[in-house]
Amino acid sequence: MKIIVCKNYDEVSKRAASIVIGYLKANPQLKIGLATGSSPLGLYKNLIKAYQNKEISFKEVNSYNLDEYIGIDQSHPQSYYSFMYEHFFKYVDMVKENIHIPDNNLDRIDEIADDYNLMLHHNQMDIQILGIGSNGHIGFNEPGTPLDSETFIVTLDEQTRIDNSRFFNNIDEVPRYAITMGIKNIMYSKKILLIASGQEKAEVVSRMIKGKITNKLPASILQLHSDCTIILDEEAASKLL
Ligand code: GLP
Repeated sequence: MKIIVCKNYDEVSKRAASIVIGYLKANPQLKIGLATGSSPLGLYKNLIKAYQNKEISFKEVNSYNLDEYIGIDQSHPQSYYSFMYEHFFKYVDMVKENIHIPDNNLDRIDEIADDYNLMLHHNQMDIQILGIGSNGHIGFNEPGTPLDSETFIVTLDEQTRIDNSRFFNNIDEVPRYAITMGIKNIMYSKKILLIASGQEKAEVVSRMIKGKITNKLPASILQLHSDCTIILDEEAASKLL
């Protein structure tokens, strides 16, 4: 693992963006795995800025999102579909057909995981963006998920629902299920870029990097990836020493 510690979230976002921009310039047909949550928001803002300055284009990029809630429509303001359009896609020149977000259509519940998984088998990511949940999840691979999991429908942890309730009116509105890329799908990416900031991530970040590899903390498997970069602010890195 390569660990980069930046002064604050602003610097984390700029650093992450400069890495992605570098890859995108080298390969305009980049296949990029995207994450939701607060952590990548600054990265997306910087990518939008670089696009507006005509430094980069997303015309030939294919994107694949990690996960999506089940039980709310794509049109719901808190769906990851809405999140991605609201914070990124609507500002850049991504081609609609090149945007892939896991389907959450209940009428196709028996097929959606296998369909997404098959697509991932045919499309290896060049780079996968990740955040980390306070319980060590990546995507929605909650503690206890087998480390060789592939795209599946997950029952969300109570802790995850509590963490994510800040985006809903109350906890009862937070979906109980989601569809997520599995740990094996994430590990298949050629490169991984994980972003974490803030004191509340310090403990889990330290366990991810220095703890033993265990499915009790799914992000710990990233220790085994051959090209994984972790970008932290000083607070998130504060328990590493
Ligand atoms: C969510 C997402 C994850 C994300 C995590 C951390 O539940 N499914 O992909 O990494 O929570 O979110 P945040 O960056 O807001 O702390």
